[in-house]
Amino acid sequence: MAKSDNHIVGIDLGTSKIGVIVAKVLEKGEIGIIGLGKSDAKGMRRGNISSLKEAEASVKSSVIEAETMSGYSIQKAYVSVGGCYLNSINSRGVVAVSSKNKVIEPIDVARVLQNASSIRVSNDQKIFHTIPQEFIVDDQDGISDPIGMHGQRLEANVHIIIASATILQNIATVIHNCGIEVEDFVFNLLADSYAVLTPEEMELGVGLINIGHGTTGISIFEKGAICHSHIIPIGGEHFTNDLSVLLKIGIPDAEIAKKKYGCALTSMVSEDEMVEIQSSQQKKSTVIAKTKIAEILEPRCFELFQLLFENIRDTKLLKAINSGIVLTGGGSLLPGVSEVAERVFDHHVRLGEPMGVSGLTNLVDSPLFSTSVGLALYGAKSLKQKQTETKKGLFSRLFGKMFEFFE
Ligand SMILES: Nc1ncnc2c1ncn2[C@@H]1O[C@H](COP(=O)(O)OP(=O)(O)OP(=O)(O)O)[C@@H](O)[C@H]1O
Ligand SMILES: [Mg+2]
Repeated sequence: MAKSDNHIVGIDLGTSKIGVIVAKVLEKGEIGIIGLGKSDAKGMRRGNISSLKEAEASVKSSVIEAETMSGYSIQKAYVSVGGCYLNSINSRGVVAVSSKNKVIEPIDVARVLQNASSIRVSNDQKIFHTIPQEFIVDDQDGISDPIGMHGQRLEANVHIIIASATILQNIATVIHNCGIEVEDFVFNLLADSYAVLTPEEMELGVGLINIGHGTTGISIFEKGAICHSHIIPIGGEHFTNDLSVLLKIGIPDAEIAKKKYGCALTSMVSEDEMVEIQSSQQKKSTVIAKTKIAEILEPRCFELFQLLFENIRDTKLLKAINSGIVLTGGGSLLPGVSEVAERVFDHHVRLGEPMGVSGLTNLVDSPLFSTSVGLALYGAKSLKQKQTETKKGLFSRLFGKMFEFFE
């Protein structure tokens, strides 16, 4: 199989599916998707590993599929991290500009980011993203790239993502046992933002919500950067479970009924529409009103968005959502979800489908693959940065993969 360092691989470890994407950096920097592998996630629970062996088998199955489709042997990958064991905080760093002529150099940027990320974390936690929001040179704020500017004092506001070191280690073990090295861990909503948000939305202020199977996460982006993240342990799984309990059918039948007839807003469903649902356990089918399914899903959906809304209201970030809400993740495919989000947030809501890639786009043209596609785009940006830094030398050698920068 072909080997080349302009290939980028993203592995999205979801609660319900493992999505592996192989992409290639084409001429003019375009990112072409050349392979996709997907399998049901076994041994995963809300972003955590519940069985190393099962998770490993699921990852291997997706990897083989992606390798076969792309003809590329996967050695390294960007791996998504999500789940309720993540924490995020904002921090600020300050340093004096070091050069005699007071021109800001890459080393000053690296020092101020290191200073901003010198926060206390417990032994079982690990910082895995320090994302600059803005730099401040003397008293001038809102600077995205201070290199080359004159100043005495350099400050940085950053968003820090922290994860459980043990969980990261377990994920690394699974990936390693599949013969793959973790190139970098990437927070899944950060990856999503690369695939579904426009630069204008990120600049004006936007709320990005990923409704997965076991979790739902929200991140707020403002002035081009992520400034808040919150994850709750409710996702599509809970919608399915509600149907299973209240319609007295098994989980697989409830999952089918949700995808086929589900709607999160009762008023969108015609009152006289009848549908047939299966009960494999009882080996029978029942005809029920479609509104009955919506009546079960609606309260769960309102509860989900209400919890997210309260978090954003309590952190005083509602006013940041100037360009509305973008929904992604498989849970956003349920009809009526956008309408419920619109009512709770009182903002414009749109569905986030992956963009910014070429190649086999028809395979990934769904909110289900926003994280996988985002990992490829994130990886492409990292690769470009590393190539620039290698040319410049010093910076990357000093601070490795720890920081992420604006273009
Ligand atoms: N057409 C659809 N209608 C309703 N729900 C859907 C549809 N397609 C997928 N889903 C739901 O989306 C969820 C899976 O989404 P996704 O693949 O984004 O989750 P995940 O990444 O595996 O989980 P997580 O991000 O929580 O770890 C499932 O609950 C599934 O039932
Ligand atoms: Mg997911």
